[in-house]
Amino acid sequence: MNPAESLVLSTRERVQVTLAERSYDIIIGQGLLGDAGTWYGLPAAAHAMVVTNTTVAPLYAQALRSQLQAQYRQVHEVVLPDGEAHKDWATLNLIFDRLLAEGCDRKTVIFALGGGVVGDMAGFAAACYMRGVPFVQVPTTLLAQVDSSVGGKTAVNHPLGKNMIGAFYQPARVVCDLDSLNTLPDRELSAGLAEVIKYGPIADAPFLDWLESNMDGLRSRDPALLAHAIRRCCEIKAKVVGIDEREGGLRAILNFGHTFGHAIEAGMGYGVWLHGEAVAAGMVMAADLSERLGLAESGLTIRLARLIERAGLPVRGPALGAHDYLRHMRVDKKSEAGDIRFVLIDGLGSAVVRPAPDALVAACIEAHCA
Ligand code: NAD
Ligand code: GLY
Repeated sequence: MNPAESLVLSTRERVQVTLAERSYDIIIGQGLLGDAGTWYGLPAAAHAMVVTNTTVAPLYAQALRSQLQAQYRQVHEVVLPDGEAHKDWATLNLIFDRLLAEGCDRKTVIFALGGGVVGDMAGFAAACYMRGVPFVQVPTTLLAQVDSSVGGKTAVNHPLGKNMIGAFYQPARVVCDLDSLNTLPDRELSAGLAEVIKYGPIADAPFLDWLESNMDGLRSRDPALLAHAIRRCCEIKAKVVGIDEREGGLRAILNFGHTFGHAIEAGMGYGVWLHGEAVAAGMVMAADLSERLGLAESGLTIRLARLIERAGLPVRGPALGAHDYLRHMRVDKKSEAGDIRFVLIDGLGSAVVRPAPDALVAACIEAHCA
């Protein structure tokens, strides 16, 4: 082993998602895409299909394809249009069109190379194609590395609601190459930091302290800090998913800030606000709601807003009006019999899911909208 190789391997970390026969590893490290060791032990097949998009393909598809060519007789690629606005049924069909046109069989392994949009769509395609083929997540955004690639939620949007059409379907492996974050635009890095921040208040108060001490280093992409943050987020998510894979209860805490956030995304039109930006403003509203309901200690909202601002994220939502927020929030998957259910902070590092009076929710929206 040459010195460069040992450096790469020594920085590699593994987090396991434990789900009986559907257990898998999340591999985190530098230089993973181009390292043959990353790709050993995947399901054997004749065909591999790389699903990516117009932005990521020119950056990383060739590196991935050349590794896969050592293992699969035929390596295909489908390049989707980029953006949340394309996370829809018509774009999903492009994946099926290509799989069928290439004669891909039921052992074909799908590789999702890109951010959360590609990961969610490729995962859903894998869940559906021939009633299910294996897939591997190769997330290239911070948001995807800390959240969307882990846990098996796959979906496309419907004009009436975000992620409304989908399936729980676990990947065979998740490969988080830290080097891919070097090409990520600053705005997207910040969007990923929103999902990083969420893990503190819902599950790990010391991690929130750590983020406050290291936010500047994370924004300047210090690989050791990013590796630590990604590993900790994946550990928390793996634990939650291992307990409640299909969101019967506990898993909903991972949606802190998302109920308000989804209303922002739907209300503004998908893609106008990034998912992470909407979640950031949503976390401020959800923290305020937690305080107003007497669950969280006073001061949480200000503390969180400060950190969110330092991450380069919005702390105020768009002025859609409380009525519109509430209308969009009723389409949320956590709603039960028309009651919107919120993830609320119940003491730092702990979250609960419950309904709240419309008037109180409206007051939080009005207090934190531009
Ligand atoms: P994204 O997939 O749209 O990626 C953001 C942008 O960065 C895109 O333009 C993309 O092409 C580009 N990009 C990706 N990797 C890059 C790289 N390495 N260098 C340069 N550009 C790169 O957005 P996202 O923030 O990764 O994911 C958001 C999506 O994830 C939303 O649709 C959201 O609903 C979903 N999500 C799903 C889950 C889940 O559990 N499945 C969790 C959170 C979010
Ligand atoms: N991102 C929320 C979840 O995976 O459950």
